[in-house]
Amino acid sequence: MALSEVHLFEQLGRTLLADVRTGRLYEADEPTAAFVAAALESGDVDAGHAAVRRRWGRWRARSVREALGVQGLIAVTPPDCPEPPAPFLPPVTALDLNITHQCNLACRYCYGSYGSTLSRDGGPFRYGSEEGWMSREVADAAFEFLLRESGEEEAVSVVFFGGEPLLNWRLLEALVPAFRSRASDAGKRLRMSTASNATLLTERKLRFLIDNGIGIQFSFDGPPDVQDDQRCSRQGRGSYAQVCEAAGRLLACRPGEVTARATLTRRHLELRRVVEHLLGMGFGNVHIEPATGVTNDYAVTPEDLPELKRQFAEMAELFLERLDQGELLNLSNFVKYVRSTKTPETPRFHPCGAGRGYLCVDPNGRLFLCHRFTGSDEYAMGNVFDGIDNALRRQVAGLHVHARPGCRDCWARYFCGGGCWRVHVDATGSLAEPDLAFHCELLKHTIELSMAINARLADDEAELLADRYDQSRMPHES
Ligand SMILES: C[S@@+](CC[C@H](N)C(=O)[O-])C[C@H]1O[C@@H](n2cnc3c(N)ncnc32)[C@H](O)[C@@H]1O
Ligand code: SF4
Ligand code: SF4
Repeated sequence: MALSEVHLFEQLGRTLLADVRTGRLYEADEPTAAFVAAALESGDVDAGHAAVRRRWGRWRARSVREALGVQGLIAVTPPDCPEPPAPFLPPVTALDLNITHQCNLACRYCYGSYGSTLSRDGGPFRYGSEEGWMSREVADAAFEFLLRESGEEEAVSVVFFGGEPLLNWRLLEALVPAFRSRASDAGKRLRMSTASNATLLTERKLRFLIDNGIGIQFSFDGPPDVQDDQRCSRQGRGSYAQVCEAAGRLLACRPGEVTARATLTRRHLELRRVVEHLLGMGFGNVHIEPATGVTNDYAVTPEDLPELKRQFAEMAELFLERLDQGELLNLSNFVKYVRSTKTPETPRFHPCGAGRGYLCVDPNGRLFLCHRFTGSDEYAMGNVFDGIDNALRRQVAGLHVHARPGCRDCWARYFCGGGCWRVHVDATGSLAEPDLAFHCELLKHTIELSMAINARLADDEAELLADRYDQSRMPHES
């Protein structure tokens, strides 16, 4: 008899046991936790049995063993790992169009580098240093590429990205009806959205985006002191007042439906204040990402991990407190995993579609693994005129969680799917090797907290949450 692959942990005052291969979650009482801990340590179920017998007696040891057996956690043959996906390349159904690499802001942590305080040719990732504006010709070729490469798939999506996409408004405004008409000719459903700093979101532009059903992911870092310090112009002028006005206009049109994407830096490591500020303004959903991949004092580092974990745990308690009051604290960092750990039927083998079904197009029409790799030659994948170069795509598709050292033995692999490619590359220099010291630690902590939230949810609260899950969908997390 052997113990299944399990993860035993304590969070939010509960001791939980996750069956790694099936995704099932159990609450463990003290003898069960002692049984599993001893069995895990020695690699022997009998050692678990003996540990419980010593402390609680024979009968208890036997009943714990039986209960674990009934749940399939002890068996002659533990369940197999889920099968990885077949090694074929999916059609390309989503494109980021970097319609400009220019930006009117100079956010202190920006990986696109226009805003960074790094020297002009320093730093590992500098897509913004190229003075790129996408032309109509490139944009049209990119869309034709998408229609072609999406094959039989009916739904396609485009994100207007950058730099600051609203700076290239003339192009965006012309592309929306043109893309819609081409998609309809080709019999495809098209979803369009944009990720913006919102400083240029005038009444007229907002009306256009709303009338055309274009999703807006609003980058906003929180209270005035934080936003003004982190997201400012090259001269250091803060953007809070401007962005706040735009948020007011947008939220009046789409109350409770807009996502705020906030970047957390080590200069303002105040998760709760940021989240409460943004939800308090009327954003329906907040997603937080730590600033990574830059080397100035805004970047969050492994040293900040204990504090960050403490703050996420505090947010999880607050999440439950608010649910008690019938309110959803819609922090998508949790909601996403509360959902997937509640219904673990579909194991994840990849973190996202990057490099497979989703690619980024730079202003010259070159294709990259995703927006965060734009400008890094070794992660280029051909261009929209001559077609896709599938060598790197095959590599990415092959790097599922069973194939990556680090991931293949990680208890969180089927929930995580492998984490952000760029964050790993920035930390380890390789797509294959995960950033175990920081990114993985934070991901695993977030998943544990989400599982513990699940364990404490009453059924009606779980229902309330299920109704709101779809509001937590993010076009771009990283
Ligand atoms: C590069 S911007 C491009 C679109 C637009 N200019 C904007 O600010 O939303 C996209 C998102 O990346 C985030 N971001 C930029 N640099 C980052 C970094 N080093 N780490 C994490 N997120 C970062 C920004 O805060 C923003 O939410
Ligand atoms: S607004 Fe966006 S692209 Fe511009 S500097 Fe800030 S994060 Fe970078
Ligand atoms: S947490 Fe890290 S090691 Fe574990 S599956 Fe995710 S990326 Fe891989």
